[in-house]
Amino acid sequence: TQYQEKAVVIRREQLSADNVRLTFECPDIAAAAYPGQFVMIRVGTGNDPLLRRPFSIHQAHKEGLLQVYFKIVGRGTEMLAEVGEGAEVSILGPLGRGFRLVESPACLVGGGLGIAPLLFLARELSRLQRDCGLDTVILGGRSRSEVEPLVKDFEQFGMTVVTTTDDGSYGQRGFVTAAFSSLSLPASCAVYCCGPEPMMAGMNVLCRARGNSCQVSVESVMACGMGACLGCSKPTRGGGYVHVCVDGPVFDAEEMVW
Ligand code: FES
Repeated sequence: TQYQEKAVVIRREQLSADNVRLTFECPDIAAAAYPGQFVMIRVGTGNDPLLRRPFSIHQAHKEGLLQVYFKIVGRGTEMLAEVGEGAEVSILGPLGRGFRLVESPACLVGGGLGIAPLLFLARELSRLQRDCGLDTVILGGRSRSEVEPLVKDFEQFGMTVVTTTDDGSYGQRGFVTAAFSSLSLPASCAVYCCGPEPMMAGMNVLCRARGNSCQVSVESVMACGMGACLGCSKPTRGGGYVHVCVDGPVFDAEEMVW
């Protein structure tokens, strides 16, 4: 079920110069949301559908709170970042198909803003009857400011957090794929990824070689978010096409063309 809600911003956190986290009171969408799904948020006023932008769900609580975490990269995100506490925005969701939660040890791999949906996933995985002590989260970014502010949020679920930065300013220097390669994880470990396409392509190769299942949350331009504009189609290995907004954004990595 999808809802369109007038959501009140109850908290605004500036996690770094460019990265903002907003918490909304948004009961219907928060209660229905599943990790890996996304919402469309209307930025600015007016009815132009192009004013709606997709945001992955960073966290959702059954008590009615919904969080998004984003980087200010253009006009739309700039406008959303300027929304103050107490303001109201229109949110549509939850949309798309999220992660399939597997009852085996988990390895979550996030690059840059791809970290955003993994927090909700980490919490839901921690609620399954599993030993989360066996879980690993690899968080990577260009530099310290993209990674450090989120580490504690993941540690609270009892998972081992490994961090990497391209410039070496925090954690290991290098990419998340190198950090993943250096871990000795069992083949039963389920891998969940979100990040830039080259990173996910690399994770697909590594997971295939090791026999790990690998789900990826694919990024795409999304104008409507509901299967109507066809702007988000991607080719699959089987020769067909999928719409990222309704068939995904989460897919098995081996289904996709990299
Ligand atoms: Fe319009 Fe997917 S975003 S069809």
